[in-house]
Amino acid sequence: MSSRAGEAHLLVASSDEAFGRLGADAIQAAWNDSPGGATILATGWTPIPVFRELATRHARGELGTPGCPIVQLDEYVGVEDSDPRSLYTWLDREFLTPLEVKASGVIRLRGTTADSEQECRRFDAAVAAVGGLHLAVLGLGPNGHVGFNEPPSGPTASTRVVPLSPESLASNARYWEGAEVPVEGITAGLELLLSADVVILVVAGAHKRDILRRSVTGPESPEVPASYLRRVPRLIVVADDDAAAGLTQEEIGSRSGPGI
Ligand code: GLP
Repeated sequence: MSSRAGEAHLLVASSDEAFGRLGADAIQAAWNDSPGGATILATGWTPIPVFRELATRHARGELGTPGCPIVQLDEYVGVEDSDPRSLYTWLDREFLTPLEVKASGVIRLRGTTADSEQECRRFDAAVAAVGGLHLAVLGLGPNGHVGFNEPPSGPTASTRVVPLSPESLASNARYWEGAEVPVEGITAGLELLLSADVVILVVAGAHKRDILRRSVTGPESPEVPASYLRRVPRLIVVADDDAAAGLTQEEIGSRSGPGI
């Protein structure tokens, strides 16, 4: 992986609707640039307005079913598809079903295989077989994680099983409504995510303001895995007013390389 810096753009939304529109526009533009280019998608709360806007456009006939392979980003270890809290089920509910993507068009990363190591290698090979990643739509963990690449994760972090950090257990507790959050995740590696041509990082809420600033203006560090996203050719940050407060396009667009 080279340590080149690509272009970076900050798009700020002042409402959920605007957030959804900006995110959906950015995704559609990336799809138009490279029809068929594999797309990896985060779940979590943040992308929901974006997925709903895409679903609305699809329902109106303005957007077809994506013609690209869809790639699962992460999953809890030990959680079956039948569990409504599984990340795949979340992706299915919010994206695959509304956009009429067939399950056969999805590259899965399962948390329930007998051999996780083999599952990770199968997943990487399946992504490589479709020509690698074109687009990654990622959320930002409160500790700077992307997918389940928990700190410390460097730019060569592989697709793997990881113990979830205390911060992730705490922030994901709201998805689990009082039940115990699984203690391990399986995630596409940071190295694979950094191989995408385009990353759209969606970030919302004042509680993400500091970590967003560190991710896009601070030094690269395994302690902030998202800080490496500036290496991809095109990084688009879609943030709401609260997360973006105080951040400017000049700050994120005028860097000259890693470590600054
Ligand atoms: C979770 C997921 C990530 C997600 C992130 C942010 O732990 N593993 O894929 O992007 O945290 O989630 P949210 O958007 O709900 O804040």
